[in-house]
Amino acid sequence: MTEKDFIPKSYPAAVEQGEVTWQSPSNIALVKYWGKLEHQIPANPSISFTLDSCRTTTKLKFQKKQKPTADFDFRLLFEGEEKDAFRPKILKFMQRVEPYLPFLKDYEFTIETSNSFPHSSGIASSASGMSALALCLMSLERQLDPEMDEEYFTRKSSFLARLGSGSACRSIEGELVVWGMHNNIYRSSDLYGVPFRDEVHDNFRNYRDTILLVDKGEKQVSSTLGHDLMNDHPYAETRFRQAHDNLDKLKKIFRSGDLSEFIKVVESEALTLHAMMMTSQPYFLLMKPNTLAIINKIFRFREETGLHLCFTLDAGANVHLLFPEKEAQETQEFIEAELKQFCQNGQYINDRVGSGAKKMA
Ligand code: PMV
Repeated sequence: MTEKDFIPKSYPAAVEQGEVTWQSPSNIALVKYWGKLEHQIPANPSISFTLDSCRTTTKLKFQKKQKPTADFDFRLLFEGEEKDAFRPKILKFMQRVEPYLPFLKDYEFTIETSNSFPHSSGIASSASGMSALALCLMSLERQLDPEMDEEYFTRKSSFLARLGSGSACRSIEGELVVWGMHNNIYRSSDLYGVPFRDEVHDNFRNYRDTILLVDKGEKQVSSTLGHDLMNDHPYAETRFRQAHDNLDKLKKIFRSGDLSEFIKVVESEALTLHAMMMTSQPYFLLMKPNTLAIINKIFRFREETGLHLCFTLDAGANVHLLFPEKEAQETQEFIEAELKQFCQNGQYINDRVGSGAKKMA
């Protein structure tokens, strides 16, 4: 599919008013997206586990205007309260997606949104938030075009979510989603995420992600600025090639179930992401002393137990702990006894791989 396929020709049905609610999860990248071209086209392909309990719930209410106006009209409620700080981001999103959803200025919207994870936990809510909003808007478009098929609905939801926040396009489906053109991944696209359809070993079923909240403050580097740092980065081309190679490696690993190899790719991806930030101009150091303390504890735990706990990081200090279901009990005991002390207020979130967004009744 190309961008043009997402521009509707006309809508057969009329819709006056209504409401729709979607719940959409966060995701955690195994091969990281870092660096982009215009229109949120990724500089390299990425793959993520869709999460299960870290979710945004968004209700979209819509009422047709008497006459269309020149402005986007929306109210924004976050956890029940008017949230002006989020308006610019939503406005920008609406402007970007308008060519693909030409009805946006015909309606007054109320967007009511809340997260399952604690507010300002340092967990990126843009992936779950933007995907939930994209799905709500697609539900309205489906009412305007009742013949729309499921495949189009899903692809376009991911396409729109990408225009809100790149990684959000990986939150629509589960359990592993690839975004970005890769020669050896069937139907992969720069425009939207697609489920990873190759064989996946049982070792990866119900994989766990426990998120250690090391630093719950505001992000030090916004994603927009972060991606821009790759534009004239001295190691950019090598890094982008490496992401392609790491996806090839993961493809084999998912088939074989080799957890030791999985750890090598995933941890190297996390450290590379941070290395890119440390070697850009300007440079950023986003790990905190507790991030490093946790990583060292993980290395020691693996050496002592032979278990397969590994870490990954986003563009911040929090640590995602990935581990197989069959090692969950021993690993959780270790987290409680040894790692919890490095979290702000002892806080962490137990999550696992999930199957994607859900429409609520
Ligand atoms: O979706 P954005 O623009 O916020 O970028 C997210 C980038 C990382 O979280 C660091 C990596 C990824 O692939 O999710």
